[in-house]
Amino acid sequence: MSTNRQDRGKWGSRVGFIFAAAGSAIGLGNIWRFPYVAGENGGAAFVFLYIIFVIIIGVPVMISELAIGRYTEKNPVGAFRLLAPKSWWPALGMLGVFTGIGILSFYSVVAGWTLGYFVKTILGEFSGEITTGNLEVIYNTFVGNPVAVIIYSFIFISITALVVQGGVSEGIERWAKILMPFLFALLILLTLRSITLEGGAEGIRTYLLPDFSKVRAATFGKALGQALFSLSLGMGTMITYGSYMSKKENLVTAAGYVCFFDTLIAILAGLMIFPAVTANNLSMGEGPGLVFKVIPAIFSRMFGGHIFGAGFFLLLAIAALTSTISLLEVPVAYLVDERHWKRTNAVLLMAAAAFLLSIPSSLSFMSGGFFANIPVLKMKFLAFMNIIMGNYSLAIGSFFIALFVGARWGTGMIRSDFTENRLSPVVYNIWRFLIRFVCPIAILAIFIYIIVSGDYA
Ligand code: PFF
Repeated sequence: MSTNRQDRGKWGSRVGFIFAAAGSAIGLGNIWRFPYVAGENGGAAFVFLYIIFVIIIGVPVMISELAIGRYTEKNPVGAFRLLAPKSWWPALGMLGVFTGIGILSFYSVVAGWTLGYFVKTILGEFSGEITTGNLEVIYNTFVGNPVAVIIYSFIFISITALVVQGGVSEGIERWAKILMPFLFALLILLTLRSITLEGGAEGIRTYLLPDFSKVRAATFGKALGQALFSLSLGMGTMITYGSYMSKKENLVTAAGYVCFFDTLIAILAGLMIFPAVTANNLSMGEGPGLVFKVIPAIFSRMFGGHIFGAGFFLLLAIAALTSTISLLEVPVAYLVDERHWKRTNAVLLMAAAAFLLSIPSSLSFMSGGFFANIPVLKMKFLAFMNIIMGNYSLAIGSFFIALFVGARWGTGMIRSDFTENRLSPVVYNIWRFLIRFVCPIAILAIFIYIIVSGDYA
């Protein structure tokens, strides 16, 4: 089957690719999810495991996904069809397509909250004397109001659809290139304010001094899930993005840059959040509301804080947008490449599916509602999707991607990407060892540990 090249596109430049891939990686995962999951799972010990997983699993899997994408120039399903015809490997690509919609559905709800907080800040809801109690009330009232939340997530999915409709380099690349540096600057500014807050030292300690007695089976699972989620791995996003990458670029260095910046932003976000948590007598286990309570608390104590606060929420929404774009791009590329759909129709169908699936997540914070505490699972629908799609599905996907490259496709296919860049053969051998042995064994061991201990979530 021939691919319609016109509808596919390529990145405009080398930096363009790195920005777009970093744009996919950097998002709510770093600034919303990382700090609260770290807070719930023992702080520094979690952060330590997270970094280890980025290095031994994230980097090698990212190199593998990019290589598969660039080699095949296809979406995940098409890529596995080409490399392993008449096998069940393409099902792994299909898992990625479904996971993309699944993650997009709950992700856009939280992205919608970010838009809502931007509006609230502009309207001056956080001006005057702001107490922790006020912040709790503002948060609970807002997320508990399904109408507002559904409207905001609808707006968010619509903007995502518009950009994805614009195609790769016109839409995705341009946005990412212009806006990411601003987010970084603002993050540093808020971090500086936060670490100088009175009462913040305790938070910094929890964040930086590990207490390994807090580590359980679920901690391993969550640190692994968080590393994969944050780097956009395990569902073929980087296969899809790699397919738009030119053969001239070196994918090993590109993967290195993306993993480095993504991790840097997550670590910085923690450094911004944790001191402010203790300075404001909030709890480390605050859950998904953490950043929405903490950020206003930080900027309300800054000169000109409202401008910075509004800017922060807006930039966070934009960082989320460069991630939702990549989530939607996977299923869209599948329909365009494999089923020869028009890009517009593919975007409409997949965006509509994600929106419908987002509704139960939007209803998850309505007190007493069905989706706020699903029977049997005893958790919110959003939390359920977050764990199943954002942790387990990505871990299963990464496990099989590692197996595919290590055992079926062969690591030799990627060798030239290491040698061309004059990286020493040692680096290639390290990657080869990690992808063939360490990645699959570590992921499997974590699954077994979780099943045996019954510590699922
Ligand atoms: N990496 C994104 C973040 O950290 O916000 C979320 C994400 C995007 C996950 C794309 C998975 C993905 F394929």
